[in-house]
Amino acid sequence: MSIVSNVLDRVLVLEMVRVTEAAAIACSTLIGHGDEKAADAAAVDAMRTALNSLYMDGTVVIGEGERDEAPMLYIGEKVGSAIGKGPKIDIALDPLEGTTICATAGPNSLAVLAIAEEGGLLNAPDVYMDKIAVGPGYPDNIIDLDKSPTENVRAVAAAKGVEPSKIMCCVLNRPRHEKLIAELRSLGCGVMLIGDGDVAGVIATTNPETTIDIYMGSGGAPEGVLAAAALRCVGGQFKGRLLFRNDDERARAAKWGVTDLDKQYDLTELAKGDCIFAATGVTDGSLLAGVKRKKGVMTTESVVMRASSGTVRWVKGEHRI
Ligand code: FBP
Repeated sequence: MSIVSNVLDRVLVLEMVRVTEAAAIACSTLIGHGDEKAADAAAVDAMRTALNSLYMDGTVVIGEGERDEAPMLYIGEKVGSAIGKGPKIDIALDPLEGTTICATAGPNSLAVLAIAEEGGLLNAPDVYMDKIAVGPGYPDNIIDLDKSPTENVRAVAAAKGVEPSKIMCCVLNRPRHEKLIAELRSLGCGVMLIGDGDVAGVIATTNPETTIDIYMGSGGAPEGVLAAAALRCVGGQFKGRLLFRNDDERARAAKWGVTDLDKQYDLTELAKGDCIFAATGVTDGSLLAGVKRKKGVMTTESVVMRASSGTVRWVKGEHRI
């Protein structure tokens, strides 16, 4: 089956940028204000309004949570101006990826969105996911969650023709990663610890300027699907496995149709067929500059990419205040 999609053709790729721009601009007034909830709410509200102006029959498959816990952009919510008649689109979104980053004016918070044809995105429950990612240019399946961090780093180093000490791994700075970080350090490789924002962390492996070779560790499963959609467009490899802490989380997975709880997902199982990924920077980061305000103008930096064509567009916006 061709991955070029007529359904997505009917939704303008650039419209996706207007949606992420709206979310980023809305929460930008709250950068550094220490109020995560207010920043998230502003982004959610703006993203929902922008999505509702698009001609599509959209369904949120990854959103702000389940219906009873999220008032807007909950999983299953219908969005778009053509429900019942427009193209059927599945949407994974995170209006403010890195709420703490935004609240503390740190690096790499983003407004993020991925869309695919109906059924194209894994309906990941809001649980953790074990993740590993590398950028493009490596032999297929060079990374594998069934292998140890040491084996993965050695494989990537050998393919790159360097010693493991020349490899840089990006890991979320969390107590649960103590063992992983210790193993990486004992191998002699560099470990770049990030406070939050693993969508940007995974995408950073595709940009040599970040110096990051591998992303490793666990983070949100929804963020894993969003990052996988981005890598589908720009190239690179990603593996993910859902992690469950209790029966409630297992039950949630079952509710969203996940039957094999131990499955190691590949890129195309997380985001299959044609898909579009868009992001706008909220705060400055390795992928995008954040929203800036000066002299009556707000500037934004966004990226939008499409899997079927591999086209990546960088969009700079100037918005009159
Ligand atoms: P939020 O935007 O929901 O705050 O997520 C930030 C984030 O760092 C994600 O990028 C990451 O996947 C997840 O949190 C990690 O979860 P935890 O903070 O529980 O380790």
